Amino acid sequence: MKNPLTVKINDHLTYIGVNDRYTHLFEGMWPLPDGVSYNSYLLDGGDEVCLLDCVKIPSIDEFLSNIRAVLGDRDLDYVVVNHMEPDHTSSLPVLVERFPNIKIIGNKKTKEFLNNYYDLTENIIVVKDGEEVKIGNTSLTFYTTPMVHWPESMVAYEKSEGILFSQDAFGGYGTLDGPIFDDEINFDFYKDEIIRYYTNIVGKYSVQVVRALDKLKDLDIKMICPDHGMVWRKNPSVIVDLYAKLSKQETENGVLLVYGSMYGHTEKMAEMIARSMADEGISNIRIRNISEYPLSNLIAEAWRYRGIILGCPTYNVGLFPPMHHLVWDLGKQKMKNHTFGYFSSYSWGGGAEKEFAAFAEKSKWEILETKPNVKGALKEEDIEDCIQLGKEMAAALKEHYPEEYK
Ligand SMILES: Cc1cc2nc3c(=O)[nH]c(=O)nc-3n(C[C@H](O)[C@H](O)[C@H](O)COP(=O)(O)O)c2cc1C
Ligand SMILES: [Fe+2]
Ligand SMILES: [Fe+2]
Repeated sequence: MKNPLTVKINDHLTYIGVNDRYTHLFEGMWPLPDGVSYNSYLLDGGDEVCLLDCVKIPSIDEFLSNIRAVLGDRDLDYVVVNHMEPDHTSSLPVLVERFPNIKIIGNKKTKEFLNNYYDLTENIIVVKDGEEVKIGNTSLTFYTTPMVHWPESMVAYEKSEGILFSQDAFGGYGTLDGPIFDDEINFDFYKDEIIRYYTNIVGKYSVQVVRALDKLKDLDIKMICPDHGMVWRKNPSVIVDLYAKLSKQETENGVLLVYGSMYGHTEKMAEMIARSMADEGISNIRIRNISEYPLSNLIAEAWRYRGIILGCPTYNVGLFPPMHHLVWDLGKQKMKNHTFGYFSSYSWGGGAEKEFAAFAEKSKWEILETKPNVKGALKEEDIEDCIQLGKEMAAALKEHYPEEYK
C-alpha cells in the first residue's frame, strides 16, 4: 500500500522517520513547543537493506508501517545504531523481534550499551573507527564521534553519494511539518530551535564537536541526514557552519541579564543596571525573570551574548533556588568568551553573593569589579553600585566590539 509518510531521498535511500507532538519536555526537562522529529533512514543496497537509527517507542506502529511500506516483504538485514540514547533505540528490541535475522552495527561501546539497556548480545557487528561495511552494492564507513554527545556516538558515511548520517549532530528541535529537505523549508523557521537544541543538548561537549568536525573535514559531504530535524540535501554547509560557529563559542555584542525576585527589590536592581548600560550606549539587552522564563531558552541566550549578568536574593543562606539551577547548568556548560557581572540581596546574614563569587571564580570568564549586594530596600549607595556595574559592563563591551561603537 502506498505510504506518503516515507520520503524518497534518492534511488536507494528513503526517509522513514516520525514526528513527536506529544512529548512536552525533551529528556524530561527541555520544552518542545514545536515538537521534535526522530529521523530514521532505509538504505537499499539491492540484495541487502540497512536501517539507520530507530525512533522512540511510542511511535513504533508508524515506524513499522513506514519500514514495511518501503521493504514490502523483503527482510531487513542490518540496523545501524549511531547513538544509543533511547529516543533512537527504544524501538530497537521490537525491531529485532520482528526481523530476527537482523544484524546490529555498532562500536565496542554500543555493544556494552545494547547489553545493558536491552539485553541484546547477539548478531552484533562491532565496527572500528574508519571501518567500512558492505551493504549489498553500496557501503557505509563508520567514524566514532565520542561525546557528541554520548560515549558511543558515531556517524556513518555513504561515499557513493557523499551522504553523512550524523545522528544528533546537525540536528535540532521541531517536527518536520510536511517538507523534510533544507531546500523545501524556510531555515528561519528552524534556526532558533536548532540553536536551542545545540545549547541544551550538545553545547557542553563543544570541544568534542570541534574534534568531530575536524575529523570529518576531508569527507566529501554532499548531504547530511541527522537524527532530528531537516535533511540537508542542497546546502549542508549551512548547518555545518552554524555548528562550527556555536562550537567555537563566538559570542555577540549584547547582554543577558537574568534576575530572580520574590518581592521586587532585586528586580529593581536589574532594571537599574540595564538603564545604566543603556545610558552608556548599549542596545542589545535582554532582561529575563528566572521564575517566568524557561531555563532552556536562558541557556541558549547565555551562549549568544558576550555579557551575562545574574542577580537574585539570598534564600536559605544561598542562591534563590531557580537561580541555583541556572548557575549549576552554566557551570557545566564550559562556555567561553563571556564577561560576567552579578548582584544580590538579603535581609540578615546573606549568602547568595558568596555562591555567585564561587561560580565566578570557577568560570574562565572576565569578571566585573562591582557586585551590588543590597540589604532590604535600595539605599542611595546601592543605586550607585548598580549604575557602576552597568558602566563596567558597557566599558567591557566597547572594548570587545570597538568597531560597533565608532
Ligand atoms: C524563604 C526566604 C528565605 C530567605 N533566606 C534568607 C537568608 O538565608 N539570608 C538572608 O540574608 N536573607 C534571606 N531572605 C531575605 C531575602 O533575601 C530578602 O528579603 C530580599 O530583599 C528579597 O529580595 P526581593 O525583594 O528581590 O525578593 C529570605 C527570604 C525568604 C522569603
Ligand atoms: Fe542524544
Ligand atoms: Fe537524539
